Amino acid sequence: MHPDIKQVLITQAQIAAKVKELGQRISRDYEGKEPVLVGALNGAVVFLSDLMRCLTIPCTVDFVHWSSYGKTTSSTGVFRILKDLSENVESRHVLIVEDIVDTGLTLHYLLENVRSRNVASVRVAALLDKPSRRRIEVPIDYKGFEVPDEFVVGYGLDFALQYRNLPFIGVLKPEIYAGTDTPPDEVEARE
Ligand code: IMP
Ligand code: MG
Repeated sequence: MHPDIKQVLITQAQIAAKVKELGQRISRDYEGKEPVLVGALNGAVVFLSDLMRCLTIPCTVDFVHWSSYGKTTSSTGVFRILKDLSENVESRHVLIVEDIVDTGLTLHYLLENVRSRNVASVRVAALLDKPSRRRIEVPIDYKGFEVPDEFVVGYGLDFALQYRNLPFIGVLKPEIYAGTDTPPDEVEARE
């Protein structure tokens, strides 16, 4: 446990078991294929690195880093692409790997972007789903856990760039972000 954490929502062991299960499903579904895993930086790195080691099929890995222009513009889905795909994904089976789907806006536009590249297929793996916050419908083909409408950190997810290294998913003590003039949602919108 960490002094800034109010509650552990998902333990390290629960995450490991779920990632293994998702890896087995993905390996079965992509049998005979060689998907490219596209991780959304920075939050998805921990999930992606564990997930890829649970795959028994050949795969390649690439990353994108999209940053929304702040809370207001985020809601209109305007993003700055800090890092685009490095490889050409035309005719590839793309598996987008996300840490959490919240409003769904990031994933929606990422899916549109990937689909426009003449890929063979595109699917989504997301460790966490916060359905109560959804503003646009998005498909999640491989889902880890649903979480309540609370700001969570750990296993890749941050608050103010911190806590990504925690091996579990936890809820921050309110006093950690009380007193900052940036509520978690807006901090996230910078990312
Ligand atoms: P969306 O575009 O609103 O679905 O936001 C997706 C991104 O917001 C995720 O990839 C995360 O980086 C971030 N995010 C959303 N909810 C949380 C949270 O509870 N903790 C940390 N990051 C979050
Ligand atoms: Mg993210």
